[in-house]
Parts: sequence; C-alpha cells; structure tokens
Amino acid sequence: MHIIAVANQKGGCGKTTVAVNVAAALSKLGNETLLIDLDPQAHATFALGYSEGPSERKTAYDIFRAYFDSTDVPFEEIVITGRERFSFIPANMMLSAAEINLGEMNGAAAILSRTLSGSFFEKYEYVIIDSPPSFGFLTLNSMYVADRILIPLDLSYFSLNGINGVYRVKGLLKRETGRDPSVFFVMNLYERRSNFAKQLERDAKRMLGPYLFSTRIRSSVRLREAARLGKTIFEHDPGCSAAVDFRNLTNEVLAPGMENMDVVIREFLFHAPEAGSVYVLGDFNGWKKSEANRLSKLESGYWSGHFTLSRGRYRYKFLVDNEWIRDPENTAAETNVFGTVDSILTV
Ligand SMILES: Nc1ncnc2c1ncn2[C@@H]1O[C@H](COP(=O)(O)OP(=O)(O)OP(=O)(O)O)[C@@H](O)[C@H]1O
Ligand SMILES: [Mg+2]
Repeated sequence: MHIIAVANQKGGCGKTTVAVNVAAALSKLGNETLLIDLDPQAHATFALGYSEGPSERKTAYDIFRAYFDSTDVPFEEIVITGRERFSFIPANMMLSAAEINLGEMNGAAAILSRTLSGSFFEKYEYVIIDSPPSFGFLTLNSMYVADRILIPLDLSYFSLNGINGVYRVKGLLKRETGRDPSVFFVMNLYERRSNFAKQLERDAKRMLGPYLFSTRIRSSVRLREAARLGKTIFEHDPGCSAAVDFRNLTNEVLAPGMENMDVVIREFLFHAPEAGSVYVLGDFNGWKKSEANRLSKLESGYWSGHFTLSRGRYRYKFLVDNEWIRDPENTAAETNVFGTVDSILTV
C-alpha cells in the first residue's frame, strides 16, 4: 500500500483538487484507491458529490472517536464505494472536535496509521489523504502515516515561503517519531503566459530540484465546474487540459525510483536577530539575489532556508542587509578571485 498525504498550510493552493483528481486518475489506471477527506471543511466530500448530510452518516471523525472511546470502527459504514475502484471516506465538521479532544493525547498522531494497518484496508493499493490548511493534529496524522507527501504550490511567493514550514514539520516528525516521508511538490493554477509564473517556476526549481514534478496543473475553469457539480475532472470533461494535466501528474507520481534521487536537502542557518533581510547566495543558486534565495526569520533570531543540492562542492556566502558575510559556523573557507573569503560546502 502506498499512502500519499496532500498537504500545505497555505489555504486554497489546490490540496483538495489535487487529492480528488489524483485519486480518480489512480483508480482509472486500474489501482484500487481510497481517498480520505481529513479536513473538517469537507471540501473533498462536496467535490465528490456528497453533501455533509445527516449527522448519522459515519465519517473520518468516527475513526478518531473510536480510538478515544476504545470501541471498534465499523469500516463498512464509513467507506463509500459508489465509484469503480475508487473508495472514499468522507469528512464533516466534527473532525475539528477530534483535533480538540485528541490533540494532546499520547500517540494521537499515529491513530490513522494504526487504523490503515488493519486488515480491512489491505485491498487498497493507493491511499490519498486530503489535509486541512494547517499543521495541526489532523495534518500530523496524515503526514505520519504517509510514505509520500505531495505539496501543491499556487503561484504566489507565500507558497514558496511555506516550503520552509513543510521542511520544519518534516524535521519535527523525524525527530519525534522517526517517520521520514519523502516530499514532492506540484505547481497548481499555472498561468502559461504569465512571466511571473515562469519566474516563480524557475525559483521553485532552484529550491526544490527534482522534488518539483515537471507537470504543472494549469488554471482551468473545468476544475471549478467539476468541484461544484460533485464530479472528478474525468467524469466532467475527460478531454480537457486539466484532465491531461492530472493524467501526467499521476504518471509522475507512479514513476519508480523517485525516493532514491541523489540530491540532498540542506538547511542554511544564520543568526541575526536584528537583520532586516538575509539571503544565502552561492554556486548552487547562481549567486542571484532573488526571493527564492531569501531566508525566513525564526523566533530564535536565526534565519533559515532549505535548498535542494546535487552532490558537489559549492562556494557560498550570506548577504545580510546587503553586506556579504561568510558562514560563521563553517570553518571550511577559501579565498575567491575578489580577494575575499567564501564559505565552502561539500555535499
Ligand atoms: N488548477 C486550477 N484551476 C482552476 N481552479 C482551481 C485549480 N485548482 C484549484 N482550483 C480552485 O481553487 C479553489 C481552491 O482549491 P482547493 O479547494 O483545491 O484548495 P485547498 O488547498 O484544498 O484549499 P483549503 O486550504 O481551503 O483546503 C477551489 O475553488 C478550486 O476549484
Ligand atoms: Mg482543501
């Protein structure tokens, strides 16, 4: 079983659209697929044509409630099986109660993981989880159980800033639980003709390297229509550009060997509580001062940024309020052609 969590704390970047349509494409390709709506907003539930419905309908909330009450979960009553090879666990508002009741409980982040390891779920080849726009208890459950995390990025720099947040949560997950899912990114709401989109894509590529899927999901009114009609894009208009994009994305998701790419994600840290801006510039990003190379300020006074680097040897420096400074925490250094000293990083 492969489990893919779709997550991003940024709202409206396309998590639900990606989760629903990747799940639909996987099932069309012959895979027994389960989609779990883990967002109290229940947008995936609506997008598949189920209104929140009567409160007696069982939802993902019952998985958590059963854990809390130590009762058995009636999975047959929770899983909806209206579509071919495409099963679905709906959500409703009650999921936020799970967050409140269980968030503090020991081991609560592993509830979904324990559930999906039960024999009822053995038949599923792919499980896709739609997460809410936060890094709270529900998203932690989805990231904990996942072997891959798929992050949609919309065309705003807020999206790129959010990437550091993703890696921080991933670091926390690894430290606290030992779980280390791989993270992949996909650009959504892509505007082909926009220069801004092209620039942002170049920056995203530099930051994310091969972890950015080459498929871009273009903006398409068909996707909005499909969600409103309660249909997947393949049910609504299988020939439209968005359907093509989702087929391509799904093929990339299925590509073998993605976990073994020879690249390293490296965090750069610089302590400067008073600084107004800190960039890291080096051979790996063309020494180009751009938004993608700007570090984010942490509460500790450190500035932090994650970069995807191929193996090799790099020169770099920090640009702190327009002043070049070598990395004080790295003793490896070398004089450059300008007669000043660069820090050296070998990965
Ligand atoms: N490629 C696209 N083209 C056109 N509209 C899109 C596209 N992707 C998403 N949308 C629309 O943008 C809105 C937000 O998308 P979606 O609900 O998938 O985002 P989300 O990240 O799940 O939001 P939330 O954070 O609230 O869960 C929806 O109305 C959706 O139909
Ligand atoms: Mg959503």
